[in-house]
Amino acid sequence: MDDATPDLFGDVPTNSSGPARMALSPGATVLRGFALPSQAAVWEALRDVAAAAPFRHMATPGGLRMSVASTSCGTCGWVSDHRGYRYDAANPESGGPWPGMPAVFLELAREAAAVAGFDGYQPDTCLINRYEVGARLTLHQDKNERDFQSPIVSVSLGLPAVFLWGGAQRSDRPLRVSLVHGDVTVWGGPARLRFHGVLPIREGRHPWAGACRISLTFRKAG
Ligand code: SIN
Ligand code: FE2
Repeated sequence: MDDATPDLFGDVPTNSSGPARMALSPGATVLRGFALPSQAAVWEALRDVAAAAPFRHMATPGGLRMSVASTSCGTCGWVSDHRGYRYDAANPESGGPWPGMPAVFLELAREAAAVAGFDGYQPDTCLINRYEVGARLTLHQDKNERDFQSPIVSVSLGLPAVFLWGGAQRSDRPLRVSLVHGDVTVWGGPARLRFHGVLPIREGRHPWAGACRISLTFRKAG
């Protein structure tokens, strides 16, 4: 992450055009600009989490270095290595617990879930992915969680991205959805196991995040 102190009164791009809510498929919604009102507090909390549990590039089970750098907060964190993908109560880098979920994260995730139709959301983990220019996430399902009843909530910060919204099968042709700083995507119920991904991030500069996109992805894992 860029270490420059965010200029809270600076020219942070917002997304005032387009509908405030966009349905992707039954159970999946993009809430445009939903994180903007809390962006300063979210950004500050994010810096604290990253200071306590630094971003690192994990390896896939097949031994490839992931192009996104990641960290987590909450009672467990998503990890990947030669043993596979899983959630672990300990951060393998430190051997200790992950930083706690900041209250401002939890509140944002709960509010977004409720607005999208999922009341009572109780995520126990937030995976924070940092995408440098060129980093991507190939089509996948989120299925390392024990709980598929709860939705996924994903907050986009920094550089824009093209989110791929696929179907129930990997071969289903995905929709391409532009996500910008402050957008929040929620998918649950019939959409919970849909394939999704992120196209390689294009060059650019965001006043807070620099040449990066950061996503906060909330899940109930346990
Ligand atoms: C994810 O699929 O886990 C993250 C999606 C995103 O970066 O928006
Ligand atoms: Fe995912």
